[in-house]
Amino acid sequence: MSNNKGLILVTGGTGYIGAHTVVELQQSGYQVVIIDNLLNSTVQIVDQIAAITGQRPDFIKLDLREKQQVAKLINSYPNIEGVIHFAASKSVSESVGDPLLYYDNNVCSLVNLLHAIKGKPIKFVFSSSCTVYGEPDQLPVTEATPLKAATSPYGNTKQIGEAILKDTAQAHSQLKVIALRYFNPVGAHPSALIGELPKGVPQNLVPFVTQTAIGKRPQLIVYGNDYPTPDGSCIRDYIHVVDLAKAHVAAIQRMQHNEMLDVYETFNIGTGKGNSVLEVINAFERITNVKLNYRIGPRREGDIIKIWADVSKATQELKWTAQLNLDDMLSSAWAWEKYINNNPFKND
Ligand SMILES: NC(=O)c1ccc[n+]([C@@H]2O[C@H](COP(=O)([O-])OP(=O)(O)OC[C@H]3O[C@@H](n4cnc5c(N)ncnc54)[C@H](O)[C@@H]3O)[C@@H](O)[C@H]2O)c1
Repeated sequence: MSNNKGLILVTGGTGYIGAHTVVELQQSGYQVVIIDNLLNSTVQIVDQIAAITGQRPDFIKLDLREKQQVAKLINSYPNIEGVIHFAASKSVSESVGDPLLYYDNNVCSLVNLLHAIKGKPIKFVFSSSCTVYGEPDQLPVTEATPLKAATSPYGNTKQIGEAILKDTAQAHSQLKVIALRYFNPVGAHPSALIGELPKGVPQNLVPFVTQTAIGKRPQLIVYGNDYPTPDGSCIRDYIHVVDLAKAHVAAIQRMQHNEMLDVYETFNIGTGKGNSVLEVINAFERITNVKLNYRIGPRREGDIIKIWADVSKATQELKWTAQLNLDDMLSSAWAWEKYINNNPFKND
């Protein structure tokens, strides 16, 4: 496909969700420039992307906290059509211990980027999160569900990021913004050439499951089985990372086709279905025929009990719906774990 749909700058494009989105953008006919400081990823991912798509995206190693460098870079690409902003730090527990790191990296970087694109007609997609809803009073959550006070500095940076973008889009008519509130992204590309590369002990369930299954971790711990849910474990809305990546392409297209109802919009990006931790474990064992060594541990502080999305706004307005199911998510995550076991990456 010819690269004539426009140039998209992807910050954090060598990271987990960013790399999958670069692939979908390229395969939909966009040209891509990646900015990443490799804080939580490796430059080898650029080769992996090129192996999937046959096209090498431009890669620029840059820290978005360096305001002048960011402005210089944006000016060197005068024909940027859109920006998809993934770059951020994302560990809830790390943010509790080092909040300034999170406000600096997640909020200052966003402000630097917005300064750099001020006055330009840019379509901007922001990585938000279902953490903005906290523990919801009603399920499923819609985009109109009131936000709850954030329970961590990380969650707060997503709420602040949304507020900054809403104010900026309202003040500067050239800017259009779609904030995507991701539910729980899991899985890997069907090629098994890109996937999640957690540093240290994974904080999310699925990489913990696959690392335990392959023998990198001795045991998986289920944090609590005494919650008020059918089997006592927490419930999440897991979304395949490839479906999530496609939602970014849909968001850019919505802005390019002038279909927005407002200069700033939010969309829930999930499947609309909740699965418990124990359901995920059982599904993984069934699909892979691998017996997982797991035990029930105490509850983990700060965990939401249950959350899943109402995705009707994304279906109707963004014209996007998740296509892949939990089995697809877990089998692709397992294929990726086996791939990296044979082909270790530098940030393992
Ligand atoms: N993975 C999830 O469960 C999840 C859920 C909701 C929202 N999000 C958000 O989605 C986005 C992407 O998440 P991910 O899972 O792909 O994370 P990731 O850590 O794999 O990717 C983030 C990338 O940003 C880069 N980066 C960080 N700070 C930077 C800086 N100052 N300058 C340049 N590059 C920088 C990192 O090196 C990394 O490659 C983040 O904003 C995250 O908060 C993730």
